[in-house]
Amino acid sequence: MADQAAKLREIKGELDGKDQESFFDEQYSNIIAVSSGKGGVGKTNIVTNLGYALTKSGKKVTIFDADFGLANIDIILGIAPKFNLRDVISGDKDINDIIVKMDNGLSIIPGSQGIEELADLDVVQKRKKLIQCMQLREKVDYLLVDTSAGIHKNVIDIILASGRLIVVTTTEPTSLTDAYSLIKIVLNRQPAKKISLLVNSVRHEKEAKEIHEKLNTVLRKFLTRDIDYFGYLLYDNVIQESVRKQQPFYERAPHSKASKCIDAMAEKLLGNTHKNAGNSAVYTFFKRLFLVR
Ligand SMILES: Nc1ncnc2c1ncn2[C@@H]1O[C@H](COP(=O)(O)OP(=O)(O)OP(=O)(O)O)[C@@H](O)[C@H]1O
Ligand SMILES: [Mg+2]
Repeated sequence: MADQAAKLREIKGELDGKDQESFFDEQYSNIIAVSSGKGGVGKTNIVTNLGYALTKSGKKVTIFDADFGLANIDIILGIAPKFNLRDVISGDKDINDIIVKMDNGLSIIPGSQGIEELADLDVVQKRKKLIQCMQLREKVDYLLVDTSAGIHKNVIDIILASGRLIVVTTTEPTSLTDAYSLIKIVLNRQPAKKISLLVNSVRHEKEAKEIHEKLNTVLRKFLTRDIDYFGYLLYDNVIQESVRKQQPFYERAPHSKASKCIDAMAEKLLGNTHKNAGNSAVYTFFKRLFLVR
């Protein structure tokens, strides 16, 4: 056990060098974890439809379904992946074998089965071997990571390994206080983390801006920093309908008010990211996720 801990420290030491230092470089800002304190606030819909919008703009987008609960993305997209991260962990497949390619070019890494097993992977050699299976063959401009809600260690590890975090909240007080708790934990570990807020299910943008200001007032007071405003998603029945039809709303209703909000957020990402994530950044993400536990 002590030997094991020493080995993990040794690997962490490797990461604390080059990978850790360069981690806040612009290129990592395209490795985006989308999380929330409270569940059911719209993360999976946002990740999926944002993925569609960025793909439409000619970007190579990969979605990592890292929600260790239900594989919601499969439901929204109406897909049934044959393999998942568990097959990579067991050594049967490499990452390229499990990726699902959508007709529009979007790629999905089905990770909801497997993420939890990572915590039990206590053999360093196994982890190192796993890392070798994570070299993506195809180019990636954006890696969008859909996480579970809450402050479980698995979620926090994914956020810490990502280059930036988008926190999703609704206007409900419980959703907002849970978002605060999540942000607090993340900032405690990475005080300079790039974090932005997305407010979902609002009636108009003003409501989202007010929520952002409200949260920032608390953050400034207790954590001495604030977070950016990323965007808002209007309440729109088209979302529920699309989930029922297992088709992303951005594809089903491209001119809906919800799709317009997604367009605005995609444009924001396209505007403020300088470089593409690049496959080495994605590799670093997996390396951090799988090695530092
Ligand atoms: N802007 C919106 N307008 C109307 N309905 C919405 C909106 N956003 C989300 N919903 C509804 O909320 C449901 C939950 O959304 P989603 O599955 O994306 O949340 P989640 O945060 O990923 O949930 P979980 O924490 O369980 O993974 C959707 O199926 C949809 O019915
Ligand atoms: Mg979800």
